[in-house]
Amino acid sequence: MSVRMFTAPLILVLIGVAAYAANPGDAVAGKAYFTQMCKQCHTAEDGDGGGEIGPSLVGVFGRTAGVGDTRFSYTPALQGSKLVWNAATLERFLANPAVTVPGTAMPLPVPDQKDRDNLIAYFQSLAGQH
Ligand code: HEC
Repeated sequence: MSVRMFTAPLILVLIGVAAYAANPGDAVAGKAYFTQMCKQCHTAEDGDGGGEIGPSLVGVFGRTAGVGDTRFSYTPALQGSKLVWNAATLERFLANPAVTVPGTAMPLPVPDQKDRDNLIAYFQSLAGQH
């Protein structure tokens, strides 16, 4: 048996581990966190009964900040931020909205990295459904 026979599967396993490490969020846990902490103000999925104090987050992953919900009056701060919501920008914004976008009306930071990862995985899992 040659070493080479094992190399390809080993590399695939390592790539899998690396991909997992880069995106460790758990979408199911993210949904649970969203229901508890965000849904009073936001909808993430059509028909989830979320509140309208904040803009709809249906399809938020991949869209430009401050434009997605046409019925919502976004702050000029968020509209002017020119952010596009992806894992990196959501990570920064959710960690501290008021610092990332000074003047935003989004009041709630998500202090725990794991909760942010889970929320991002949840939003990502919904991407492309709209
Ligand atoms: C008390 C109400 C409230 C809660 C709770 C809340 N938000 Fe918000 N959120 C807002 C408001 C209001 C805005 C609009 C901010 C602006 O226009 O500057 C917003 C904006 C956002 C945006 C940007 C949306 C866009 O279309 O660009 C994201 C993402 C977001 N919130 C995520 C969350 C998450 C995740 C949670 C739960 C951890 C949460 N919010 C909890 C009120 C809330």
